[in-house]
Amino acid sequence: TGAQVYANCQGCHGPQGEGNPPLFPPLRGHVAKLLGAEGGRNYLLQVVLYGLQGEIQVEGQAYNQVMPGFAWLPDEDVALVLNHLLTFGAPEGLRPYTPEEVKAARAKPLTPEEVHALRQGLRLP
Ligand code: HEM
Repeated sequence: TGAQVYANCQGCHGPQGEGNPPLFPPLRGHVAKLLGAEGGRNYLLQVVLYGLQGEIQVEGQAYNQVMPGFAWLPDEDVALVLNHLLTFGAPEGLRPYTPEEVKAARAKPLTPEEVHALRQGLRLP
């Protein structure tokens, strides 16, 4: 299940996605903002696959650590954990991630810095 795959995340982001400022950003209540931005759906997938490095702001708090990527997880598990993130709050009517979508993203691997550049391109509220 998605909750089982999320075991890989909770050491940093917390069992309920509450985060651990100023090191690890919260996901609960926050991923909805990422998903609401144009390109946010793809960004979330890229973060989980390839990780993230570079300063970000989450709810007024700066974070500047390194998140490892999870490209070693099977497509199915990546989709499950992304869909688990949707239970932390998501815009109405968002379709679930599919393993096919994850597989397609593997065609162009990104560095954690490139994932950061993608985030910089999002127009976040
Ligand atoms: C950032 C999800 C595992 C540390 C993020 C972000 C997401 C995310 C969506 C981006 C937040 C944003 O752009 O506003 C996940 C998921 C994980 C996972 C789903 C499991 C599959 C981990 C682990 C660690 C970690 C294990 C610690 C070793 C971080 C850090 C950032 C971050 C430090 C901010 C990076 C920076 O400062 O640039 N995570 N994460 N994450 N995550 Fe994770």
